[in-house]
Amino acid sequence: MRTAIIFLPTAIAFTTRCPHRATHTALNAIGIFYGTSTGSTEEAAQLIVAEFGEDAAGPFDIDSIQGKVGEEFAKYEALVVGTPTWNTGADTERSGTGWDEIYYSEMQTLNPSLEGKKVAVFGLGDSVSYSENYADATGELHDVFESLGCKMLGYTSTEGYLHDASKSQRGDKFVGLLLDAVNQEELTEDRVKNWVSALKAEGILESGGSGMALEVSMAEPKVKVDMDVVANGEQKASQPAVVSVSQTGFVAHYNSRTDSTMWINVDGKSSFFTNGKP
Ligand SMILES: Cc1cc2nc3c(=O)[nH]c(=O)nc-3n(C[C@H](O)[C@H](O)[C@H](O)COP(=O)(O)O)c2cc1C
Repeated sequence: MRTAIIFLPTAIAFTTRCPHRATHTALNAIGIFYGTSTGSTEEAAQLIVAEFGEDAAGPFDIDSIQGKVGEEFAKYEALVVGTPTWNTGADTERSGTGWDEIYYSEMQTLNPSLEGKKVAVFGLGDSVSYSENYADATGELHDVFESLGCKMLGYTSTEGYLHDASKSQRGDKFVGLLLDAVNQEELTEDRVKNWVSALKAEGILESGGSGMALEVSMAEPKVKVDMDVVANGEQKASQPAVVSVSQTGFVAHYNSRTDSTMWINVDGKSSFFTNGKP
């Protein structure tokens, strides 16, 4: 079975601008924040902290930092933030937690201080009883941070979930890690482990990667390269290029003959090259 690889914007920025990729190993690189009504989101936050180990601080209840969220978020290079969903009949502010109090007030004052900060969201919900609105509030949490210029990481596959619809789903991806402590609790630990590994692979621990502009040539690619795909670090000879699309819409194609990587935008109108493998 072939494994597709995902290249995300931080990795692209580093490959483009920085010859030596720096890996951040300082303590507390990531701050974990959550809201909760009945405790499940807090428990998930604790699992995430444990999985990151010394790189993570928290978890911190959003209620405890109201009035100083800017100051608290600024302490970390990256944020992992979580919320439950409570059905109120409204479209927004349905976390049932302190997040609802700050989304459209205190958090709106954080622009531009959050610009470029790496953020990943997670959310709890009940995918059976609320299958049409599974973890809707996680989508809002994502959208608020994204609207403040954050670099969003940690999108996940919707495979294996029981829901019918969710405002956290965009295309065939969730905008973060979704958990269901009511119907699929036995999957929580593995889902957390896999997600934290994916976040590390996406560069959540890499310092200085945020807010760097891409240097993109807007010229249409003139040469159609017969490209190989690198999967799990191994080169697969002469296979068709089937790779995943990054959040910026660029797909990496490694060419072993020229030892260079061509990044092509999904719209096919822009591309750029970097030396070596992605
Ligand atoms: C009254 C009520 C409304 C709920 N509404 C939703 C909903 O709209 N969507 C959803 O996915 N889960 C919904 N849930 C499930 C909760 O989100 C779920 O139990 C979650 O784990 C609670 O997280 P917390 O313990 O951190 O507050 C609802 C639960 C209750 C009791």
